[in-house]
Amino acid sequence: MKSVILAGGEGTRLRPLTLELPKPVVPVLDRPFLQYQLDLLATAGVRDIVFSVAYQPDRVRSVFGDGAALGRSIVYAVEDEPLGTGGAVRNAWPHLDDVTVVFNGDVLTDVDLPKVVADHKASGAVATIVLHPVPNPAAYGLVEFDGGGRVTRFLEKPKPEEITTDTINAGIYVLDSRALDLIPPNVNHSIERGFFPALLRRGDLVRAHVHRGYWIDIGTPEKYLQVHEDLLAGRFPLAIAAPERGPRVFVADGALVADGARLEGPCYVGPGCRIEAGAVVGAGAVLTRDVTLGPGARVEASVLWAGCSLGAEARVRGALLASGVALGAHAAVGPGSCLGQQARIPDHSRLGAGA
Ligand code: GDD
Ligand code: MG
Repeated sequence: MKSVILAGGEGTRLRPLTLELPKPVVPVLDRPFLQYQLDLLATAGVRDIVFSVAYQPDRVRSVFGDGAALGRSIVYAVEDEPLGTGGAVRNAWPHLDDVTVVFNGDVLTDVDLPKVVADHKASGAVATIVLHPVPNPAAYGLVEFDGGGRVTRFLEKPKPEEITTDTINAGIYVLDSRALDLIPPNVNHSIERGFFPALLRRGDLVRAHVHRGYWIDIGTPEKYLQVHEDLLAGRFPLAIAAPERGPRVFVADGALVADGARLEGPCYVGPGCRIEAGAVVGAGAVLTRDVTLGPGARVEASVLWAGCSLGAEARVRGALLASGVALGAHAAVGPGSCLGQQARIPDHSRLGAGA
């Protein structure tokens, strides 16, 4: 059993963050996102992974290499032009064996993967799809199934009046690899709109595995912020590696916090950060690494990538800052803002909500 991780989307909804880094390797708390997926796959004994990449493939490769350092074997199936979710899995087929676990490269979940795989094998299904109930399913792929757990219909990104169920495709599948012959080689193909409906038309058994625990797609700024909130609050089972200084106040070894700086949980201060006197790391702040807060600066409910710096009394609330963003003294960034790599905000400048 091997896994394909679909990691080739451009991450357009996360721009400008993803201009610099493809979505699968954006940092989430203290590690590149796909590390969470590798950890979940390991729970089911899957250590042979194909990264299906199209957008900035070298940036993914430079983070994970051949996987040896992580005790994994990682190969890369690179597309010259994005082939879509189905075409991408088809493109990875030469690297696969009899059973394949497919992951969308932007979902974080605590699904019991060993059970999904065991139930799949016991059922004789051609495919098992993990589903998750969500309150607003329109942005996802809806999947209907009958009382016996047999999938009966797919409806990708429905119009509001078409919504018939709240269970969505969670972007995790276990497949009998032989079925991939339904996907034509080297053409753009959607696994959700093409391959799965074709399995149903052929009369194949496609099983639903409903997961009611934690699940999120990190592909929008709101969800990317949300996932950090959830990790900090302990809503996802993760042992955060940094020592806990106070209740859910995580400060990595090698971070410098001056006397007179204030840390309000839940928050995370990564390695190499420097927090000066009078600065406040407020609730929901994640300083991934090497972030500097000048005297009196304040960050809340925001994620700041490596090397960001805030001048004296600068403020950031509800925002995402890519690496190396610098705010001058007394500058302020409002909620919903998303700043690209190396952006410079001069002293006393203000960016309103959603900049
Ligand atoms: N290699 C490769 N090539 N990967 C791709 C391509 C491609 O052409 N297009 C998309 N991907 C990857 C993305 O990087 C992402 O990890 C995954 O496939 C899904 O693509 P998204 O663009 O994030 O799709 P979505 O979130 O709108 O919808 C999908 O995920 C939902 C769950 O989050 C669908 O599978 C929905 O049915 C599902 O509900
Ligand atoms: Mg997505």
